[in-house]
Amino acid sequence: KIYPVILSGGSGTRLWPLSRAAMPKQLLALVGEQTMLQETALRLADAASVGLQVMPPLMVCGNEHRFMIAEQMREIGIAPMGIMLEPEGRNTAPAVAAAAHYLLAIDPQAVMLVLPADHVITDVPAFYASIARAAGAVETGALATFGIVPSGPETGYGYIRRGEALTSAEGCFKVARFVEKPDLATAQSFIADGSYLWNSGMFLFSAARYLDELGSLRPDIAACSKKAVEDGYRDLDFCRLHEASFAACPSESIDYAVMEHTKHAVVVPADIGWSDVGSWAALWEVQAADAQGNVLRGDVYLDDVSNSLVRAESRMVAVIGLSDLVVVETKDAVLVAHKDDVQKVKQIVDHLKKNK
Ligand code: GDD
Ligand code: MG
Repeated sequence: KIYPVILSGGSGTRLWPLSRAAMPKQLLALVGEQTMLQETALRLADAASVGLQVMPPLMVCGNEHRFMIAEQMREIGIAPMGIMLEPEGRNTAPAVAAAAHYLLAIDPQAVMLVLPADHVITDVPAFYASIARAAGAVETGALATFGIVPSGPETGYGYIRRGEALTSAEGCFKVARFVEKPDLATAQSFIADGSYLWNSGMFLFSAARYLDELGSLRPDIAACSKKAVEDGYRDLDFCRLHEASFAACPSESIDYAVMEHTKHAVVVPADIGWSDVGSWAALWEVQAADAQGNVLRGDVYLDDVSNSLVRAESRMVAVIGLSDLVVVETKDAVLVAHKDDVQKVKQIVDHLKKNK
């Protein structure tokens, strides 16, 4: 049985002014009608049709988002396996460990499908096929990641060098090397080399195997997260992690804590129309543009505008005679930026935090 674990802890700062700490990108309907979190859960709905036995998801999120997440799941008619609340974010290694402890108590054979709540996947049948392939490797004790063919030397991703093909599981490769977030020169050399994939941040492994690996690589994180679950308590329908135990956990990502170091990593190359929608330009790319290359939302008037993303949330927005633009209007803030400069949006958020 596969238990999806949906991680909903980030704040999506590069999608300001729409994405805010109180209402981060995964809780917004950025692409379709559903929020990204809802799409993540709904994406698995047909998995049984290809023979995958997928259970309802376990959500792991910050305490402050609990009611929004419960409500969004209710809206789509999916009753989660549980909603686990972190008193504070400690990054993904502890979050996944807490989820693993929770699931092991339900099913000692539990296989976890770790899914960030804020990714777009356009080819769902291909996604299912990759999960099925990864499941083959997981049966042999591997920790599987899904590798995306890179389109450029992005420094915000982990890179995986594909090793030899597994004989025991079709479509799976040994991880020759895993490098989390290299610098630009290194990323460029990886692209030139041609044998590297992007780590998608989605993983499949047995809960017990993940905890084994974490226990030998980072016993400190394993111990704190175990204690946070054991000393945690139920509150309404939520499962609260114990404050002090979880706060004592080192803040570390699963990539740095486990994936870079484990000898049991396996990669499944996945051509699934994946994007982590990290910026406004990425959002422009994943959406169907009109004949002028524009992606529009809301009450928008354009004249002689091309290759732009224009989004009006509460007022009308008019643009004339410009191209390669991002315009995002919200009730209390407006962003106007060149499409090539959208990575700098993060700095606006840093600036706002400093001047609060
Ligand atoms: N519940 C919970 N708690 N979720 C968290 C936490 C936390 O403390 N921290 C992060 N997350 C969630 C985020 O919301 C996001 O959906 C996912 O876990 C990954 O975290 P990011 O912070 O977005 O990671 P990243 O983008 O820097 O890097 C990861 O993803 C890349 C692909 O998008 C790595 O796995 C990279 O190797 C990978 O390429
Ligand atoms: Mg990310």
